[in-house]
Amino acid sequence: NSMKRLFIISNRLPIQLVRQESTVQLLESAGGLATALKSYLQAQDRSSFEPDEVVWVGNADFSRELWEEFQQSKRSTGTFKIEPLWLDDDVNDGFYNGLSNSTIWPLFHYFPSFAEFKEPNWQAYQQANTVFADRLAELYQPDDVLWVQDYHLMLLPAMLRERCPEATIGFFLHIPFPSFEVYRMLPNRWREGLLQGMLGADLIGFHTNDYVQHFEKSVQRLLGIESKLRFVQIPNRPVRVDLFPISIDYERFNSSYRLPGVMAEREAIHQQLQGNKLLFSVDRLDYTKGVLNRLQGYEKFLENHPEWHGKINFVMVVVPSRSEITSYGERKQMIEENIGRINGRFATVSWQPLVYQYRSLSFEQLCAYYTACDVALITPIRDGMNLVAKEFIASRQDEQGVLILSEVAGAAAELGEALLINPTDRVGMALAIEEALSMPVKTQAERIKRMQTRIREYDVVQWADDFLTQLFNAKAQQNQWE
Ligand code: UDP
Ligand code: G6P
Repeated sequence: NSMKRLFIISNRLPIQLVRQESTVQLLESAGGLATALKSYLQAQDRSSFEPDEVVWVGNADFSRELWEEFQQSKRSTGTFKIEPLWLDDDVNDGFYNGLSNSTIWPLFHYFPSFAEFKEPNWQAYQQANTVFADRLAELYQPDDVLWVQDYHLMLLPAMLRERCPEATIGFFLHIPFPSFEVYRMLPNRWREGLLQGMLGADLIGFHTNDYVQHFEKSVQRLLGIESKLRFVQIPNRPVRVDLFPISIDYERFNSSYRLPGVMAEREAIHQQLQGNKLLFSVDRLDYTKGVLNRLQGYEKFLENHPEWHGKINFVMVVVPSRSEITSYGERKQMIEENIGRINGRFATVSWQPLVYQYRSLSFEQLCAYYTACDVALITPIRDGMNLVAKEFIASRQDEQGVLILSEVAGAAAELGEALLINPTDRVGMALAIEEALSMPVKTQAERIKRMQTRIREYDVVQWADDFLTQLFNAKAQQNQWE
């Protein structure tokens, strides 16, 4: 298992830089990919892999000038090195806003009506992947491990294979892989190209068994290549596919309960609630997250339960995301209109049923809400995994609180003790809220403890180590074939 350097390769870098007056501010990127991989790298002393160096290669969303200024300030980016890439503006637009987020993202989350099929975007996607491939070919040395992340870079593994034939290459998809009937909606060259691209890797990882099977089926139907025992049977180079449900740094969230900053924030929230029950949700602003359905479910609950009026508050945090894309901007408007309408319908002088925040939260604020609330309402229409659900459970050192979770979040496969709901069923959601609010403390604790054990046993370090171990195994097995 010799690993000289580990390359993490993703579109989104874990940090963002912004200028504030005369200094360069460093911000943390939002989203599951960035938080999961960063927390793995921060906990690397618990990992069984010790590369000489970790390099994170990604698409900068800051200027070269800002990056140079930041480097001159000699501030650290943590335990790893950052290697930013810059794409031309129009390439980036067609690649990121276009093919990645207006074709692959909606289609893979079962929103085909949101998917656009524009040839120039496909060109831009190929160009962007090529920029990554060329830069990595310059950086690559024997015994480096190249770990490609997510749907923005599905062509990259094959491009790397071409440039560095011997390289150890892993690919992990952080979103669902859809059923074949949905996947086949892509134009022919795209749908074949993306599969061929991924198959350049030695190991391809997904969150759940369903996604693995969907992928194998698409490979079989579109490329005519069979899979046997989780190997895609490419002559002389079988490619391993398997499931690796991504996770969180359990200890970090669990121990946050007693951090002074978190305790103070939690206390402040409790003061404001004045004994009311608290419902909480946090997501990036995204149509896949089911924010509108959640609002409708809550409205139904308020309609059916006047006895709860004045006694419950729902804090809904929506984190800004992908705002240049029309479907995202429209969604924001619809969410805000609905919040206004529901508050208008039920609010009184002394009570507002919905409190909406459109911004990102610090780690302390996030953990304070996770641990102050009575019910976390996580209701995506589709979600590859959903780390928020796992973070909420891990944070509850007090073993209190109820998780209401969509049955179509990848996390539902591991969190069976949550109240699982169908996110489009308003009546079901209203019933689940009622059930959550009346769940005995003992039952809450039993359920939470079982979920905590499961998350603790397969945390983000296990996840990454499991992936890297299997990557080396797959490579070794290929060498036997030769
Ligand atoms: N998160 C964040 N900033 C915030 C609030 C949340 O970065 O202001 C984090 C959250 O803690 C979680 C991630 O963003 O780790 C969201 O991951 P998830 O898998 O739930 O959804 P994604 O955004 O990746 O679709
Ligand atoms: C999801 C994707 C990630 C992405 C994140 C945030 O988790 O799987 O690849 O980084 O959303 O989205 P953004 O477009 O801001 O990178």
